[in-house]
Amino acid sequence: MNQKGIIIYFTAYGTTKKYAEWISDEIDAEIRSYREVTDSELQASDFLIIGSFVMAHRLIISKWLAKKEPLLKNKKLFVYSVSGAKPGARELDNIFKVSLPESLLNNAQTYQFGGKMRYEDLSGFHKLMMKIGILIEKNPEAKAEMKNDIKIAKDNINREYIKPLIEDFNSYIRN
Ligand SMILES: Cc1cc2nc3c(=O)[nH]c(=O)nc-3n(C[C@H](O)[C@H](O)[C@H](O)COP(=O)(O)O)c2cc1C
Repeated sequence: MNQKGIIIYFTAYGTTKKYAEWISDEIDAEIRSYREVTDSELQASDFLIIGSFVMAHRLIISKWLAKKEPLLKNKKLFVYSVSGAKPGARELDNIFKVSLPESLLNNAQTYQFGGKMRYEDLSGFHKLMMKIGILIEKNPEAKAEMKNDIKIAKDNINREYIKPLIEDFNSYIRN
């Protein structure tokens, strides 16, 4: 493999990192948190695999992506979301469009992975965010779903989700 690159993740409770580890089991790339990856590592990369969890209908890594856009815009990107919502759910339809600058979206292949959430395990700040989110949500279906998230734990983590990304990555490095 001539192309070089890294797997970058943004996690709060470990799910997004777990997927990064599963991906690195299958391809030749190291893992870095978005906090520790350096600009020179980004510069030296041909491709980047970027994982982020979804918070308040956006990828939490979106600010970082906007900041690093000049360094990322000519790289091949594979971007995955990890969400409470099930992959394929309507509320995730625009998740990449609203979270990636257009110049990055053009070079990105995107994937949705299932996450997990148990209200009791959240930090005080995240619990508060959930409550505020419910108060301000206008869509009644989304509001009901968020109320449900407080009562019923979700767990949709599954290694199978990485398969399409691994296949696309393998065809990228072959070409
Ligand atoms: C404060 C907060 C807001 C969230 N907002 C959303 C959301 O808008 N849509 C969604 O699908 N999941 C949402 N989630 C669920 C997370 O995306 C999910 O728990 C994910 O697995 C967390 O990933 P991590 O373990 O890598 O931190 C939210 C979670 C928290 C804590």
